Amino acid sequence: MSVTIGINGFGRIGRSLARIVAASPDLGVSIAAVNDLASTEKMAYGLRRDSIRGAFPGTVTARADHLVVNDHAIRAFHHERPERIPWADAGVDVVVEATGRFRAGTLARTHITHGGARKVVISASADEPDAFLMFGANHTTYDPEQHDVVSPGSCGVNALTVMAKVLLDRFGLHSVNTSVVLATQGWQKAQDSVIGTSREDPRLGRATGESIIPHNYVVGDLVRVALPEIGEMRYSYYCVPTPIGSLAELSGTTDRPVSVEEVNRAMAEAAAGPLRRVLAYDPDPTVSIDVKNNPASCLFDPSGTQTTADGGVKVRGWFDNEWGFSNRLLDLARLVGERTPAPMTSRRMSWSIA
Ligand SMILES: NC(=O)c1ccc[n+]([C@@H]2O[C@H](COP(=O)([O-])OP(=O)(O)OC[C@H]3O[C@@H](n4cnc5c(N)ncnc54)[C@H](OP(=O)(O)O)[C@@H]3O)[C@@H](O)[C@H]2O)c1
Repeated sequence: MSVTIGINGFGRIGRSLARIVAASPDLGVSIAAVNDLASTEKMAYGLRRDSIRGAFPGTVTARADHLVVNDHAIRAFHHERPERIPWADAGVDVVVEATGRFRAGTLARTHITHGGARKVVISASADEPDAFLMFGANHTTYDPEQHDVVSPGSCGVNALTVMAKVLLDRFGLHSVNTSVVLATQGWQKAQDSVIGTSREDPRLGRATGESIIPHNYVVGDLVRVALPEIGEMRYSYYCVPTPIGSLAELSGTTDRPVSVEEVNRAMAEAAAGPLRRVLAYDPDPTVSIDVKNNPASCLFDPSGTQTTADGGVKVRGWFDNEWGFSNRLLDLARLVGERTPAPMTSRRMSWSIA
């Protein structure tokens, strides 16, 4: 069965979704409509040319009120208010809300109440969605009767959650401390603009190419939504001037002392087996750019593993903050788009998601 989606916001994430869908005819997702403030011609240009991904491998043109991608016509809308977008008229079932402006569950729900869509996936750690569903950790808790507006958290949350899931299930895990180092985002400023930034912390308006900028984003709470057994968590978050490719590190204490080899073997087994859609493993020495275009939530780096004799453990993973996360958005769109989902399985059963 194919799920028909609409995309609100044709920016970094919106266009990544379009590229992934165009490149994956067997994915079971088709795009019926996109909405952005930009003209259809600009949308087409943005998909054809990309400084990070390169030229679009196919054809993209603007024709009247449609974006035509490899002969597939996608209805293009240009509404600022979400409640004005006639998704149902375009045949859209699931909306991916990717403007970054309508993160609140109440606002995103207008795609259903006004636009006629059936479900909404918010491309961010939303405010009060019906559920946060992190693939590979708690997505099997999806309840089609209760959950109409869902969120996968953020790219960093997904990278951390996957590594935490393996450690928790194999060795037990508590006293967790995490760091995320995130590539440049579109909302950051090329020059200092501390007055102009809409963010509360004035540091987030500082010139992105000049500094490592701390961000007070609370990733820990969402990792614990997926894996409450972890208990208390601490977290740090930094924005850096690389254009793509981000880093997640997680340290904590296991129930018994473990060796570096045991930890790496557990990650390799999970990546080759039950978690292969969301966890990748690369024994080659890697740097952040090597993760570009990797569809996993986390590319585990075994050279980063450290352990201590009293059960301390530290692990490192890379993630393509756009591509990996966009793949998870599509996974979620398929999950909520299914009209007759498979029977619910237990949290433990979520080991089998490949
Ligand atoms: N980029 C990442 O690595 C990443 C990773 C994970 C999650 N996210 C999340 O995904 C969301 C989108 O991020 P992004 O990086 O794709 O941002 P982006 O590149 O700025 O894309 C947002 C797009 O939405 C458009 N837009 C703004 N207001 C709109 C409105 N009212 N109606 C329709 N379109 C509107 C923007 O147009 P203008 O440019 O004209 O404003 C832009 O084209 C954010 O919540 C972000 O936190 C991003």
